[in-house]
Amino acid sequence: IWQNVPLAPPDSIFKLTAAYKADTFPQKVNLGVGAYRDNDNKPWVLPVVKKATQILVNDPNLDHEYLPITGLPEFTGAAAKLILGSDSPALRDGRVVSVQTISGTGANHLGALFLSKFYTWNGSKQVYLSNPTWANHQAIFRNVGIEPVDYPYYDPKTIGLDFDGLMNSISDAPSGSVFLLHACAHNPTGVDPTQEQWQQIAKAIVAKNHYMFFDCAYQGFASGDLDRDNWAVRHFVERGVPMLVCQSFAKNAGLYGERVGALHLVSPTKEAADRVRSQLSVLQRSEISNPPSYGARVVALILNNPTLFAEWNQDIKTMAERIITMRKELHHLLTEELHTPGNWDHIINQIGMFSFTGINTDQSKSMTEKAHIYLTTNGRISMAGLNTHNIRYVAESLDKVVRG
Ligand code: LMR
Repeated sequence: IWQNVPLAPPDSIFKLTAAYKADTFPQKVNLGVGAYRDNDNKPWVLPVVKKATQILVNDPNLDHEYLPITGLPEFTGAAAKLILGSDSPALRDGRVVSVQTISGTGANHLGALFLSKFYTWNGSKQVYLSNPTWANHQAIFRNVGIEPVDYPYYDPKTIGLDFDGLMNSISDAPSGSVFLLHACAHNPTGVDPTQEQWQQIAKAIVAKNHYMFFDCAYQGFASGDLDRDNWAVRHFVERGVPMLVCQSFAKNAGLYGERVGALHLVSPTKEAADRVRSQLSVLQRSEISNPPSYGARVVALILNNPTLFAEWNQDIKTMAERIITMRKELHHLLTEELHTPGNWDHIINQIGMFSFTGINTDQSKSMTEKAHIYLTTNGRISMAGLNTHNIRYVAESLDKVVRG
């Protein structure tokens, strides 16, 4: 038995964490997985999360009963308002179906599974993904029988957005195609469309009757402002674009291991939403029965209590600002101090957890092999892994590989 099971390679992102942990080199640096660290390279439990946890564990009525199949209503309702806006016309009309999921990955999976079963496919089942995208997207869609197709997104020449390439793909794709876009802080490039470009994208998507699959894993983390970071999603809802949104609280609430997320599907009518909800419940029941409660309760407390919500906004700013400071510092070291060949403005222009440095596979590997700096081989670095203690070492190592 199992003679025909091929050996799979380890996950490209999580293998870096394991290799980093096993490394005994004192100056080792982990710029691999996208997980926030404080300036002392420690995981950061948000002060507001500590507070909410205390409230939760001291609640004499807390029990460990099953949640409803679609999750904790106080969580899903508040999460929908957070991402769609509390004044969202879709929410007001009761057209949004919100289901609690196993973080953003679970939302992507449930959304993909639902589409694979119920979307009116125009020919073959395909999803358009940005090139590049989060490495897990391909696997998630393939698992449910949807074939990923690339659309141009990142332009290596400008280390920025290939806007024309993206727009051409939208207009060339057969009408009714499914397009996945990252709502903010694109992973892995850190390159986002401007608001003006988003408007043009929305217009083009509407013109071709495409379906929008938004992945939003970094709301608030990109700019430090929750409202600014959901601008694109809200704009698409306002334009009436048929869409779903995958939402994660891993990064913006630092609840990585608690797996708190939601899938929000915006339907044309309340009646359609009711039917969609019924089918999502059936899918969820057979997959996970009902979602875990702890993290959702923590987030529900934060979202529904104005004092905690204000504190959360502050914590988000703390994370976003530290990352922005690291961007400025890395840019300064490369350009002003080391005079590293090339233009490094993209480090400060990119946004969110990651920076796509522009170094190639060999250079990325060399950073790991020679300098013990762990990063994915596409040249992506997690800015959260940088701090005032290691940033000079990273800049000098980058300088060395660039000079060859
Ligand atoms: C990443 O891209 O590093 C994070 O989103 C973690 C993950 O699940 O891959």
